[in-house]
Amino acid sequence: MNQDQLKAQVGQHAVDYIDKLLDPDSIIGVGTGSTANCFIDSLAGIKHKFDGTVASSNASAERLVSHGIPVYELNDVNELLVYVDGADETNADLELIKGGGGAHTREKIVASVARQFVCIVDSSKLVDTLGTFPLPLEVIPMARSAVARAMVSLGGKPVYRENFLTDNGNQILDVYDLSIDEPRGLEERINNITGVVSNGLFAIKPADVLLVGHANGVDEKVAARS
Ligand code: 5RP
Repeated sequence: MNQDQLKAQVGQHAVDYIDKLLDPDSIIGVGTGSTANCFIDSLAGIKHKFDGTVASSNASAERLVSHGIPVYELNDVNELLVYVDGADETNADLELIKGGGGAHTREKIVASVARQFVCIVDSSKLVDTLGTFPLPLEVIPMARSAVARAMVSLGGKPVYRENFLTDNGNQILDVYDLSIDEPRGLEERINNITGVVSNGLFAIKPADVLLVGHANGVDEKVAARS
């Protein structure tokens, strides 16, 4: 199986996973990226079984609507049954790096109000230690250089993602070469840098369930909380 087939497989598995939890009033949080797109395409097959969705990006909202799946504003929704999204890296504790698509701020917001976060990846995303993938930071444009200097003092190499604006109208710094031995501590530290809107570490609130697609099927892993 190639990577696209693995993504399609895990997207369908996520639909089978949430199918058992659904009732007609359920609202589903939907992530962003190529794996999340596979989930959206499979979700269309059971769209009669739930009320609607909240999307973490304009791109995902458009794809959901193209399938005839209702999309609500998060402000109009009390609770999300589940949030389903991909990741750029995941470790054994289900801590993640996200934001390769620059959508991690909205992803973090939508995930934060879901009862559970189901992360869907192909096996290439599994790592022992987070940080080979550069850590994306969404920054307020006027603070970009100040945040970059702060990241250099943390040992990182920030690179401005050129010709890219987030759905919130902000810019992205991709930070290379960070030592992410303590993901929660680093997430908190970067959150405290003035001008950072959010960073792509999902460690303070990691995934609750990880579905990993590989050549022989899909593995399910549930987080052991400390
Ligand atoms: C977007 C994300 C994506 O979930 C992440 O980049 C993974 O994308 P893909 O499924 O295309 O590999 O965080 O901001």
